[in-house]
Amino acid sequence: MDSYQITGGKKLQGEITLSGAKNAVLPILAATIITGKESKLDNCPNLSDVKNMTTILRQIGCKVKKENGSIIIDSKDIHTLEIPEKLMREMRSSVFLMGPMIARFGKAILSYPGGCEIGLRPIDIHLSALQQLGVKIKEDHGYLECTAEKLVGNRIALDFPSVGATENTMMAAACAEGETIIVNAAKEPEIIDLQNYLNNIGAQVKGAGTSEIVINGRNSFHDVTHSVISDRIECGTFLAAAAMTGGEILIRNSIPKHMIMTVSKLRETGCKIDEGKDWIYLKAPEKLNSIEIIKTQPYPGFPTDMQSQMLSVLTIAKGTSLIVETIFENRFKQVNNLKSMGAKIVVDGRSAVVTGVESLEGATVSAKDLRGGAALVIAGLGANGTTIVENVCHIDRGYDDFDETLRKLGADIFRV
Ligand code: UD1
Repeated sequence: MDSYQITGGKKLQGEITLSGAKNAVLPILAATIITGKESKLDNCPNLSDVKNMTTILRQIGCKVKKENGSIIIDSKDIHTLEIPEKLMREMRSSVFLMGPMIARFGKAILSYPGGCEIGLRPIDIHLSALQQLGVKIKEDHGYLECTAEKLVGNRIALDFPSVGATENTMMAAACAEGETIIVNAAKEPEIIDLQNYLNNIGAQVKGAGTSEIVINGRNSFHDVTHSVISDRIECGTFLAAAAMTGGEILIRNSIPKHMIMTVSKLRETGCKIDEGKDWIYLKAPEKLNSIEIIKTQPYPGFPTDMQSQMLSVLTIAKGTSLIVETIFENRFKQVNNLKSMGAKIVVDGRSAVVTGVESLEGATVSAKDLRGGAALVIAGLGANGTTIVENVCHIDRGYDDFDETLRKLGADIFRV
C-alpha cells in the first residue's frame, strides 16, 4: 500500500484552486438515477470514493463517461435494483443509492452498510424517513429490501439533522405523490447543492440550507448540466496545513461563507485571514496560539470533518486547547500516532486536551481514516525530519492529488 514520505519544516506558500466537493458529488451521482436521462456533472473531483460510486452506477446499468473533470451519466438502462455487497462495503456513501432507486423504481436491495472507521454510523434515521414516505423495509441476513408501491409525501421530523438521511429523504420525496416536509433537516451547503441539482432536473425542492425542506414530487425529469460546489473541507485542510507550517496561502474557487467556523478558529490561533467573493488568504504567525475550545456540531457549527486537522495544528500551539467531538464516536484514532511524533494529547471519551509542544518530530505513522490521515500529513509537514504516513488509500478517498497540490505549495512530500 502507498505511503507519503514527508520532510517537514517547509513553509507552505502560494496559490491553489479547490476541487469540487466530495460530499456534494456523491449524493448527486446517486441522484442521477432518478432522471432516467443524461446528467453532466462539471467540477467533479478525482477521488477514489467518486470512482467507487461510478463503478456502482456502471454495474447497475448506467453509462458513465469522464471528460476533463466532468462526469456524464446516462441512467436510462438500469437493469438491476440490487447493489452488490462488496461494493456497498467499499463505500459507505452507497447508502445514498437507496432514496433514488426507490424513487425511480419503487425498489432497492442493498446490504446494510454497517459501521466504519469513525463510528457506528447507523442508518435508522434514513430508514424511518423512507418508511414515512410509504417504503416497506425487510431486513434479512444483513440485506435490506426496500419496496414501495407508491411513495406518498409526508411531514417527516428527523430525530437528528443527519446529512445523509436528509439527502436520501429529499431524493425519494422528489418522486413522491404530493408534498413532503423535512423538519429538523441538516443544513450543510452540500444539501443546497443537491437541491440545486434536483431542481435542475425538474424536481421542486425548496428550503435546503434551513431546517425545513419542502419537496413537491414529480414523475418526469430531464437532461441536465450541473456544476458541483467547491470542497469546504479541502479548503479547511489546506488552510490548516498552511497554519501548521507558518505559511501564506491563497485559495481560489472557495466559498468563504461556508468556512466561517473554520476561519474563526484559525483566527483564534493568530492567523491573519482575508477573504473575497471566491477566495481566502491566510498568513500564519511565527507561533500559533491555542484555542480555548473546538466543539464539533452540525452545520453551521464547527465541522467534524475539520476536527482532526485542527487537532494537528494545535499540537504546536502556545498553551492548551480542548477539542470536543459530538458527531462521531471514533474520531481521535490518529492521536497515538501524533503522540509518537511528540504531541501531548490526553483523550477522554469524546474530548481531547492538547498541550502545545515546541515542535513535532518525524515518525512512521499510519492513516486510519480519511481526515485523520490528512491530519497526519499536516503534522508531518510541520515536524522536524522525515515522516512516513502509511495507508494513504484513506486519504485518496477525499483529496484530489493531495501530494501534488502540497508540492505546488513548496512541501517536500512524495508518494512511495
Ligand atoms: C456526512 C458526510 C461526512 C460528515 C458527516 C457529518 C457525506 C458523504 N459524508 O456523513 O463527511 O462527517 O455528514 O457532517 O456527506 N446517525 C444516526 N442514524 C442515522 C444517520 C446518522 O444515528 O440514520 C448519526 C451518525 O452515526 C453520526 C451523526 O448521526 O453520529 C451524524 O451523521 P450524518 O449527519 O448522517 O453523517 P453522514 O451523512 O453519514
